[in-house]
Amino acid sequence: MTEAYLKLQAFMTDRRRRVDDSMLRLLPDGASAAPRLAEAMTYAALGGGKRIRPILVYAACELAGGSPEQADVPAAAIELLHTYSLVHDDLPAMDDDDLRRGRATCHRAYDEATAILAGDTLHTLAFEVLASAGAFAASQRVALIRTLCSAAGAEGMAAGQMQDMMAEGQLLTLAALEEMHYLKTGRLITASLQLGLIASGREDVSLASALNEYGDAIGLAFQVQDDILDVTGSAEVLGKSSGADKKMGKSTFPGLIGVDASRQRARQLCDQACAAIADRAPADSILPALARYIVERQH
Ligand code: IPE
Ligand code: IPE
Ligand code: MG
Ligand code: MG
Ligand code: MG
Repeated sequence: MTEAYLKLQAFMTDRRRRVDDSMLRLLPDGASAAPRLAEAMTYAALGGGKRIRPILVYAACELAGGSPEQADVPAAAIELLHTYSLVHDDLPAMDDDDLRRGRATCHRAYDEATAILAGDTLHTLAFEVLASAGAFAASQRVALIRTLCSAAGAEGMAAGQMQDMMAEGQLLTLAALEEMHYLKTGRLITASLQLGLIASGREDVSLASALNEYGDAIGLAFQVQDDILDVTGSAEVLGKSSGADKKMGKSTFPGLIGVDASRQRARQLCDQACAAIADRAPADSILPALARYIVERQH
């Protein structure tokens, strides 16, 4: 095990704990107006998940000279937003999945109406916590909110999810598949880095563009690896059903170019990501190690 890998493990363990603490603090409790809704939100948000997007918020914020404290709220916000996307992605009208993060999906543990509402309210909570983050200047809060809206909305993740639904049973070109993956997964990954940079308070156009380039490459690589694992992984290890993409007739990387070529593409994207930040982040630091983790992960 390399030193960079051990450093990354320690970083991920600590920042996961931080973001879980923040989310617990920010989620509504049993005294809310609708305790069942609060419980379903908490069920979906806590108790599993790799927390990759929050980890990227911390990594970018700290690379830019900020502190972990500055990244706490934006890290929680993007994970709340991501959790909403998973709750809705699993619904019968979308991917119709029963297993998520090693346990029943939200609509299976509760019911469909509760899961739809839990997704809605995780989504709005993400923006509310950013709007209320009093430690940031008003201009920073607006920038954080705009960045997350734009990555999640009709030109971002939701657009990718729409393309994903429309591509079921279709044979996409490689360019169309890459665009869909970039939108549905890449946009939130890149937004995580941008949120970290904004939270640090540093205004550095060239760092922002290096982080964007890194994020776009690992964002696409992240979904390529997700598609590969759906073919090669087991439900026990993944914590979600495997073989689900084929069952639903999804357009995926392995489906279009095969597993080996998909692995090659993921490795190429990892190298591209590391090159984009080479001047800023030495090879043994967190961001390059995270890029490698994303394409080597087994769940
Ligand atoms: C799954 O995301 C959905 C995709 C965008 C591929 P993650 O693999 O980050 O899921 P969790 O948060 O670790 O459960
Ligand atoms: C989901 O992609 C992307 C989202 C925006 C949630 P997938 O449908 O492949 O994610 P999994 O495999 O269910 O986690
Ligand atoms: Mg999906
Ligand atoms: Mg899915
Ligand atoms: Mg998948």
